[in-house]
Amino acid sequence: MCGIVGYVGSQQPNGRPLEVVLGGLRRLEYRGYDSAGVALTGTGDGKLAVTKKAGKLVNLIEALDLDPLPASTAAIGHTRWATHGGPTDVNAHPHVVGKVAVIHNGIVENFVALKAELLAAGTTFTSETDTEVVAHLLARAYDVHGDLTAALTAVVQRLQGTFTLLAVHADVPDVVVGARHDSPLVVGLGDGENFLGSDVSAFIAQTKDALELDQDQVVTITPTSVVVTDFAGGPAQGRRYTVDWDAAAAEKGGFRSFMDKEIHDQPKAVADTLLGRTDLAGHLVLDDLRIDESVLRSIDKIIVIACGTAAYAGHVAKYAIEHWCRIPVEVELAHEFRYRDPVVNEKTLVVAISQSGETMDTLMAVRHAREQGAKVLAIVNTHGSTIPRESDAVLYTHAGPEIAVASTKAFLAQITAAYLLGLYLAQLRGNKFPDEISAILDELRLMPAKIQLVLDRAGRVREIARWMADTTSVLFLGRHVGFPVAMEGALKLKELAYIHAEGFAAGELKHGPIALIEPGQPVFVIVPSPRGRDSLHSKVVSNIQEIRARGARTLVIAEDGDEAVRPFADEVFYVPQSPVLLAPLLTVVPLQLFACELATARGLDVDQPRNLAKSVTVE
Ligand code: AGP
Ligand code: GLU
Repeated sequence: MCGIVGYVGSQQPNGRPLEVVLGGLRRLEYRGYDSAGVALTGTGDGKLAVTKKAGKLVNLIEALDLDPLPASTAAIGHTRWATHGGPTDVNAHPHVVGKVAVIHNGIVENFVALKAELLAAGTTFTSETDTEVVAHLLARAYDVHGDLTAALTAVVQRLQGTFTLLAVHADVPDVVVGARHDSPLVVGLGDGENFLGSDVSAFIAQTKDALELDQDQVVTITPTSVVVTDFAGGPAQGRRYTVDWDAAAAEKGGFRSFMDKEIHDQPKAVADTLLGRTDLAGHLVLDDLRIDESVLRSIDKIIVIACGTAAYAGHVAKYAIEHWCRIPVEVELAHEFRYRDPVVNEKTLVVAISQSGETMDTLMAVRHAREQGAKVLAIVNTHGSTIPRESDAVLYTHAGPEIAVASTKAFLAQITAAYLLGLYLAQLRGNKFPDEISAILDELRLMPAKIQLVLDRAGRVREIARWMADTTSVLFLGRHVGFPVAMEGALKLKELAYIHAEGFAAGELKHGPIALIEPGQPVFVIVPSPRGRDSLHSKVVSNIQEIRARGARTLVIAEDGDEAVRPFADEVFYVPQSPVLLAPLLTVVPLQLFACELATARGLDVDQPRNLAKSVTVE
């Protein structure tokens, strides 16, 4: 989720290491931008030179202009997307312990236990981050092994979660070591210099000769060598290739657009949002929870406030939380909330869902809710944003920076976080037994791989989208949790392709909207699992027959194995089987791909659609 760059070059200290690293961070800044920092070795005085600043990269550059760092032989640099600890100078990377500097992309899921062990041994911490644990462990390991590669290899064996790590030590100024597990790291091969980066954007300006690293590998670079080993310290190989992207494309990881990239980032966004949410006993824990448990036990109503896509995530949350917790859940558009004079009191939990954490409509609704005595819990993707600061508790999604204006991976992460909240409340209030909760968590942990399966089947939906590039109206039908998915599918098509699109509850069709059906009218229908309540499934199949009888072109999203829909579908896009309540994480993906592909076929800018803004900070 962040930007990582490493460089090691000629033997004599010079300005190139810092220049290369800052250039790489500039191209990687889209990956995360709430703080940034660099560490240099080989400056000639046997010490590290480190500067790190909260805020965008420009703040770091201004700090370096004011207080320049010395010439060096190696450098590492990081732009952060905070997961643990707000965006402050102290929490910025690199994290330095003694002569060791570390930068990290990802989440150390077992950092609480490791930190407790270090604290018990008398270690003092300066930051709130999970990463600082790694810096302390690495400094200790170096004292034992006397070698940076061996030290990092020893440390990574103790870490759980996702990580790309780079480290330098002041005593070995011509070495940068890196390690990866579930987070990206790629090597750039130069002449008398070598590079490391989160992706090729880090060094695309210097070389297109790259080395791809596999899972659980350590890499040691010097100006004249690149050595790859495994986590057991044995020899390993990377895969050499030539980057065929230009610098601009490289920022999108080779995808045509940030929208396309972020749709494909969704398995990781869901997986990372699930990471680190249970304690050693397997009980759910929430971030920064500042609401007393007794208060959460006493609430008798939940009101979800949000806008746009975030509101549709709230509608999915309603079905799940009501089912698991037996608490009434209302979902209210934030801009409507305070003007309807809502019934809110100290027994109301208001859940504010926002990717940016800056949406003014939602912020104003949060303020109104708190004035009325409600507790507010924010589900937000952006650390350090306003809405969490003005809430009583926050549950961060870990989708990473969402650059495209139309929301995709944040939507899935919001739904995931809402599921976690529902399960947490059910655990706290005793609505579900621990084994029931862990069974649902196990199913949730299977969802990233299932989302990837849907993405792997993208070919047909993209082909249909291109065929339909000239369509002027598309309808979307769904029932139960499929209804908010239908609404989101319609919003994506409106936002990206500027096509009139409308989502309906499938049961509502016969109460009016069916008048819209004419021969050839494309209609997407999200069909619930036949393994759930059969009445729900058979009713939606009946809805498909009703519109087919009137000439509609039926594009059906159904679960693997559901043959009942085939006779009435012009196209069926199958998704893997899943529990009914978790299905939105899968069924929305073909609709995202459809909208993105159709808009692209129309030659539209899918990353910055007309009239829209990524964060609506006006009411
Ligand atoms: C989503 O595709 C839209 N860009 C928009 O509806 C967005 O979801 C809405 O403005 C809320 O934004 P937020 O999540 O940052 O609060
Ligand atoms: N978990 C680390 C932190 O919060 C790294 C986050 C990132 O990937 O930028 O500092």
